[in-house]
Amino acid sequence: MQFTIVSGSHRQPSQSRKVADHIERVLKQQVAGAEVGIIDLANNPFPLWDEGVWRGEARWQTLLEEPSRQLAASDGVVVIAPEWHGQVPAGLKNFFLLFGAKELGHKPGLIVTVSASEGGTYPVAELRMSSAKNNRLCYIPEHLIIRQVESVLNDDAAQNDAERDGYLRGRIAWTLELFAEYARALQAVRTSGKGYSPDYPFGM
Ligand SMILES: Cc1cc2nc3c(=O)[nH]c(=O)nc-3n(C[C@H](O)[C@H](O)[C@H](O)COP(=O)(O)O)c2cc1C
Repeated sequence: MQFTIVSGSHRQPSQSRKVADHIERVLKQQVAGAEVGIIDLANNPFPLWDEGVWRGEARWQTLLEEPSRQLAASDGVVVIAPEWHGQVPAGLKNFFLLFGAKELGHKPGLIVTVSASEGGTYPVAELRMSSAKNNRLCYIPEHLIIRQVESVLNDDAAQNDAERDGYLRGRIAWTLELFAEYARALQAVRTSGKGYSPDYPFGM
């Protein structure tokens, strides 16, 4: 099975990328045969959407071709969103303007939010409410909130809050195993041919 992790922070370096690297490692450990790619939005690799996307302009095709292929080949997508002023970063919302049902439709999505303090709830709510209407990404009921992120998931154990870190590592591993089961199950939905109707290309 193939998975793509979208690291939604524009910052370089970012804690979101640290979390993405951990999730990549655990997916490969916990899910036999898992292939994992990361799309990192650090430094804004995708410009803000403009009409050229719908016109299929060459500059957009060049930019979007490889990530589009990678996403389309994936059986599940992990969306990592840092909480920035109580919301999802603009670059991640832009990602959902650029990639749609062809890349994400009827695939399980796992929301992972990141906060330097005790935040992380708002981006979960925002993603669930307003990022999947047209692309038909299926967020699974479980999500992960990585609070006090600077004190967990560090390679150097001395930098970690042992109790918080241990709890999160265990919970991440279990959540990823469950996520892989959704990835297996939703393959049947996509191969059914019912996932797309030319009469109803957009969600209500
Ligand atoms: C512009 C900006 C706004 C932020 N606002 C919040 C916030 O509202 N709540 C919160 O818990 N953390 C906030 N943070 C801190 C992030 O939680 C922190 O940067 C964390 O490391 C995750 O972001 P990163 O992946 O970009 O590193 C903010 C960070 C930035 C750069």
